[in-house]
Amino acid sequence: MNFNLKIWRQKNSREKGKLVDYKLEGISPDLSLLEMLDVLNEKLVKEEKDPVAFDHDCREGICGSCSMVVNGNPHGPLPGTATCQIYMRHFKDGDCIVIEPFRARAFPLIKDLSVDRTALDRIIKAGGFVSTNTGCAQDANNILISKKNSDKAFLAATCVGCGACVAVCKNASAMLFVAAKVSHLDLLPQGEVETEIRVQKMVDQMDKEGFGACTNTGACAKACPKGISLETIARLNRKYLKAALKK
Ligand code: SF4
Ligand code: FES
Repeated sequence: MNFNLKIWRQKNSREKGKLVDYKLEGISPDLSLLEMLDVLNEKLVKEEKDPVAFDHDCREGICGSCSMVVNGNPHGPLPGTATCQIYMRHFKDGDCIVIEPFRARAFPLIKDLSVDRTALDRIIKAGGFVSTNTGCAQDANNILISKKNSDKAFLAATCVGCGACVAVCKNASAMLFVAAKVSHLDLLPQGEVETEIRVQKMVDQMDKEGFGACTNTGACAKACPKGISLETIARLNRKYLKAALKK
């Protein structure tokens, strides 16, 4: 397959960036989009040019690293799919593919397609954990949890922290990410104990990091590769209001 690529190239956050055209020919339809970028980079290295910087780790939809915008969509046009799970057979021969970095004030650009998403880690550090001693595995298993709640907690826990919800949001809000992290702990008895303090600390940190406010447009849930639902945001809002009223 042949492709016309337009890739965002930018040395660092101080210099201006631009879309650069590349042509690739003879690409196997069974290569993933990241493997196609590897082929491009091998070509660039052979030509003694600077390879395209992009983040990746697991290449299995687990780590959330492969954060880039493909044809205008964070993680590309396929629903419930991380960038690393897109294959070239999902495009048509001769297609133009535009690849850009995630854009948000809280995600400063490092180079090309790579941005700094450690703001999400700092939100987790502010309160996204259980600080009580829950004992050994068998002690934790002695606490009964309803199937409904364990299913919801598990679904929320599938958030991989990729930041697509931020990149797609017109306000660059991190609400879906925070809501998923709060929900997965809050729905379990071990995490419920610290709900109010956790919600306050995480939301405060989210604001400090420069993420915007949520205006419930729902673009975040649509872009999320893990299908995190807007129900988590409704839960976060309820918890935040309750915590604020108790202050
Ligand atoms: S909520 Fe979805 S889009 Fe947002 S960080 Fe988690 S997995 Fe990524
Ligand atoms: S590289 Fe890990 S989710 Fe894509």
